[in-house]
Amino acid sequence: MKANSFLVVGAQFGDEGKGKVVDLLVEQADIDVVVRYNGGANAGHTIVLDDGKYPLHLIPSGILHPEVCNIVAAGVVIDPLSLVEELDNLGGRGVTCDNLWISDRAHLVMPWHQRVDAHTGGKIGTTARGIGPCYEDRASRRGLRVGDLIDESGQVDKDHFSTRLREVGQEKNRLLTKLYGLEPVDLEEALEKIFAAAERFRSKVTDTAVLIDRLLAEKKGFLFEGAQGSLLDIDWGTYPFVTSSSVSLAGCHLGSGNFVLPELRLGVVKAYGTRVGEGPFPAELGDYATIKKKDRVQPGGNLPELTDQEKRAANAGDDYLMGRWLRQAGHEYGTTTGRPRRCGWLDMVAVRHAVRLSGLNGLALTKLDVLSHIPKLKICLGYSCHGQRLESFPARSHRLPDCEPIFEELDGFGSLDGVTRLDELPPNALAYVRRVEELAGVPVRVLSVGQHRAQSLVLSGK
Ligand code: IMP
Repeated sequence: MKANSFLVVGAQFGDEGKGKVVDLLVEQADIDVVVRYNGGANAGHTIVLDDGKYPLHLIPSGILHPEVCNIVAAGVVIDPLSLVEELDNLGGRGVTCDNLWISDRAHLVMPWHQRVDAHTGGKIGTTARGIGPCYEDRASRRGLRVGDLIDESGQVDKDHFSTRLREVGQEKNRLLTKLYGLEPVDLEEALEKIFAAAERFRSKVTDTAVLIDRLLAEKKGFLFEGAQGSLLDIDWGTYPFVTSSSVSLAGCHLGSGNFVLPELRLGVVKAYGTRVGEGPFPAELGDYATIKKKDRVQPGGNLPELTDQEKRAANAGDDYLMGRWLRQAGHEYGTTTGRPRRCGWLDMVAVRHAVRLSGLNGLALTKLDVLSHIPKLKICLGYSCHGQRLESFPARSHRLPDCEPIFEELDGFGSLDGVTRLDELPPNALAYVRRVEELAGVPVRVLSVGQHRAQSLVLSGK
């Protein structure tokens, strides 16, 4: 694919399959550098290779390519212990991570952030990884940054960091105990663990904005990788049911500390919709309370395939069963939390919102194969809200639960097994792709028809 710089952002509510798209582009598009610019270990990007799945949380999705420079930029919030766990997991599978760099300006997720998030994040349905509280402290200028822990020569600065951690930690412990009635954090134990972790990544810490600048001057091929999805953006998502970072192209600039207008700005769109956690989801199939009760599985597990009778009921209008069909066929369980994802039809209001937010000029349509064998497919065009037709997300997103999605129906298609070119798609599958392009106003540039690297089609665009 011809472009010297790419942006890859989620165009829905996260979990669109960004990891696979990044991995594919790195293989096929002369990418030398992958930059992760927002979010933290709340993200879960999965890459599937012949030897199994590689779930990534903090580390950019180019890490499996040793020749590619992977940068965790300043906009990312880093839990040092999760980072080391991820380095260990990758190391155990022969991925050395010698090609990883970490910003000295990135904020650190501290144990009190996770404790507060686990206690207060339920209303939003957060991942409890401490992401929101960490970004809050960044804004209130109480944050601890990687540069507080590691100095300019790559040494752990125990004196400075201990002073800062004790200062902030004492205040946080008062909050934990007095306001929330929780156990305080053992600050000395926290210090010990963080220092041990820091030894593992201190050599990777640098001013990544300067590094990016140098690599840009050398005309390297760049890919900026966004985490979460455009509808979870702190400003432009379904507030307050959002994450705490800027997911979009603007977040890319803020988070990386450089101004680059990526030539190809790809929104990753799953062929249907999913959402984890609470919040409006107008094209949802079934309701979340039922799903949480009925569709839980053991971590790594899946539901049994629907019986023929259940499939018939789903087609006849049983929304819970149709949602379950998508959840089962798409393995829709959180990489980070293991929660069952809410499933729904593809919502073009969401996709258009993402196109506008990041100036997208291409889409990567993923998991089209999951729709195989569903006789009638639906695409959401807008919402009917108290007699009014809405074609964009309202700021007052608390109105959305009262809105009825307006659907268009399309004929389904059979198996996509063995499809390697666009003209091999069943005609109805091609019609689905073309309709998505038409409604989004941008072409599909990547089409994924299965979970393996090889089951992806890179298209030249119309
Ligand atoms: P937080 O980012 O953990 O604060 O969670 C805020 C909201 O964003 C919750 O609804 C989460 O489920 C959702 N969220 C955060 N990260 C992801 C992601 O990577 N994929 C999908 N949803 C996410």
